[in-house]
Amino acid sequence: MAVFALVLAACLAPFPASAQKDIDLPKPTMEGGMPLFQALKARQSGREFSTEKLPLPLLSNLLWSAWGVNRPDGRRTAPSASNRQEVDVYLAMADGLYLFEPGPHRLKFVLASDMRARAGTQAFVGEAPLNLIYVADYAKMATAKPEDRPVWAAADTGFIGQNVYLFCASEGLVSVFRALLDRDALGKAMNLRPDQHVTFAQTVGYPRK
Ligand SMILES: Cc1cc2nc3c(=O)[nH]c(=O)nc-3n(C[C@H](O)[C@H](O)[C@H](O)COP(=O)(O)O)c2cc1C
Repeated sequence: MAVFALVLAACLAPFPASAQKDIDLPKPTMEGGMPLFQALKARQSGREFSTEKLPLPLLSNLLWSAWGVNRPDGRRTAPSASNRQEVDVYLAMADGLYLFEPGPHRLKFVLASDMRARAGTQAFVGEAPLNLIYVADYAKMATAKPEDRPVWAAADTGFIGQNVYLFCASEGLVSVFRALLDRDALGKAMNLRPDQHVTFAQTVGYPRK
């Protein structure tokens, strides 16, 4: 009977079990891409997305560019106030919610729900293949004054967002950094701890044809 219940539960699960696992990202390329000045010329916000999914190697390069480890001491491609590295990058995709772990360069499986539509108030948010949700962990800012925490977390998020913009410009992807979202509702849906705060989100995808 217990086995039958397990099989039934597996059949009723909204996503294939294979998607509900941590994902080891392929090693990021860390070379090539568009020359910096060209990428700066091409950087822009876009809101017209194809629904096509992003392949894992592209996702790997995107995340490394955004917030990956670029030095042996664990420091990152973006700066952070006092190197607190308090911003976590979550990925809302059709098959679930994942957390980017820069050290092992891995996606940690968090939830099986498709959270994309909750990641913003604009219609394209739920249709694009990827929404990055930036979450500041105030537990890592315990030595900062309470009034400094949101300001520094927002600045640190912005640097990551600009890395994403430049990577997207280099790869011909569309992206928009976003403040229009219900942070508290999204945080609850993501099962965040009280000291974790959604700062911004950023939608990424291929251009709509
Ligand atoms: C802090 C911040 C919040 C933003 N929030 C949104 C948003 O919620 N929705 C949106 O469509 N664009 C948003 N944007 C994108 C801006 O509208 C965009 O950067 C601006 O219009 C300039 O266009 P550009 O990025 O193409 O230069 C935001 C940008 C920043 C920096």
